[in-house]
Amino acid sequence: MSDKTKKRQIRLGAIIQGASGNMSAWRHKDAVADASINFDYCKALAKKAEEGKIDFLFIADGLYINHKSIPHFLNRFEPITLLSGLASTTSHIGLVGTLSTSYSDPFTVARQFSSLDHLSDGRAGWNVVTSPLEGSAKNFSRAEHPEHGKRYHIATEFLQVTKGLWDSWEDDAFIRDKETGVFFDPDKLHTLHHKGEYFSVEGPLNVGRSRQGRPILFQAGASEDGKKLAAGEADAIYTRQETIELAREFYLDVKRQLVENGRSEDDLLLFQGISIIVGDSAEDAERKYWETAELVTIENALDYLGRYFEHHDFKQYPLDAPFPDIGDLGQNSFRSTTDTIKSNARERGLTLRQVALQAATPLPSFIGTAETVAKGLQQWFEAGATDGFIVRGGTPTAFDDFVDQVIPILQARGLFRHDYEGETLRGHLGLPFPVNRYAATTNEELARAS
Ligand SMILES: Cc1cc2nc3c(=O)[nH]c(=O)nc-3n(C[C@H](O)[C@H](O)[C@H](O)COP(=O)(O)O)c2cc1C
Repeated sequence: MSDKTKKRQIRLGAIIQGASGNMSAWRHKDAVADASINFDYCKALAKKAEEGKIDFLFIADGLYINHKSIPHFLNRFEPITLLSGLASTTSHIGLVGTLSTSYSDPFTVARQFSSLDHLSDGRAGWNVVTSPLEGSAKNFSRAEHPEHGKRYHIATEFLQVTKGLWDSWEDDAFIRDKETGVFFDPDKLHTLHHKGEYFSVEGPLNVGRSRQGRPILFQAGASEDGKKLAAGEADAIYTRQETIELAREFYLDVKRQLVENGRSEDDLLLFQGISIIVGDSAEDAERKYWETAELVTIENALDYLGRYFEHHDFKQYPLDAPFPDIGDLGQNSFRSTTDTIKSNARERGLTLRQVALQAATPLPSFIGTAETVAKGLQQWFEAGATDGFIVRGGTPTAFDDFVDQVIPILQARGLFRHDYEGETLRGHLGLPFPVNRYAATTNEELARAS
């Protein structure tokens, strides 16, 4: 079957984020309390995800903590290091890690992800973030945290440089002829000579192209600037919308912007980040939710909420009064998330206690029997609200339930494949191979000359 006539399939990612569930899930009777820094735990989760034929593992990250940060953030693996370890314990699953464009150098990042791509034989992906937390500046010798819009300007140039570096070598540049002693073809080595507003990078990169050309670029950030960056540069978006209607609106907007940028709608996939809980019945699933939710105290929840707003101290306000007026706080950090929190509170007349508990212990949108969860995913997918899901367990054992009980239903309905069909992450996601820009020029010149 050609790719065009193939039935559209759901794409799936799996989040590795400590003891799955909410911020206090490490206290759950079934949880591995040190999961965030336990490699055996990560290996087991990766193995389970690969057993479910999931497209990729996904690791989020952050660059600033304080005593109010959630337990998972306090002591966890750096994503590329963790994924490099998992590259050798897995064989097919994609490996997507988060790294910030506001606090890194393009040459280092291009080199790190390219190396991960080679180590895993074409399974690497980079989740591009701009770092929301102002405190990050203090960990990187910076006087100030760049403002939201500026972070996206930096990110745009950063990605252009990184992609340029990834084209330093054409795919067949390395000859390695032992007889003649020719190691590489100099015509297929290209030096970038980038001089821009934020970066000056000579190149070339000291790593060649990988089996999938270059790593897959995810973008996480849902503001207008975030969508623009994704539509221009990324291969995938990691986002979270509360309802199917909002998700569809977001989806259509991004696909429209892609086309406006001269790209095809199929050049970028959208992923909704979701949490799931599976039970033997609706009541059983709800019981599992409460078993984990009850571990979060209201003080924990206020700290959790505060982090989105530059670690604002919400303990100073009355809990059962309407959500306080905090002005523009949040605009320079998690803008899209804080905008949503504020407008929800206003429109639904929520108290501070309700807002904090909703943020820290949200009821998963996909909760119930395996059949109910599968049906929900199917609805979102078929309504054109998403191309796939990045799944996290809503309790410490929920991810296993997802693989054992929900994926088989999706497979039986022809919505998810029974086995890996390709070997690279790009292959799993059905994304086009990125032709090296210099090879493309040569091909065009050849075509014109013929
Ligand atoms: C769904 C989602 C996931 C994100 N994941 C991360 C992350 O793992 N690490 C990080 O530093 N920032 C993360 N961000 C933050 C963004 O990179 C960005 O710094 C911040 O949200 C502001 O961008 P926005 O207003 O465009 O959403 C995430 C944002 C969203 C919306």
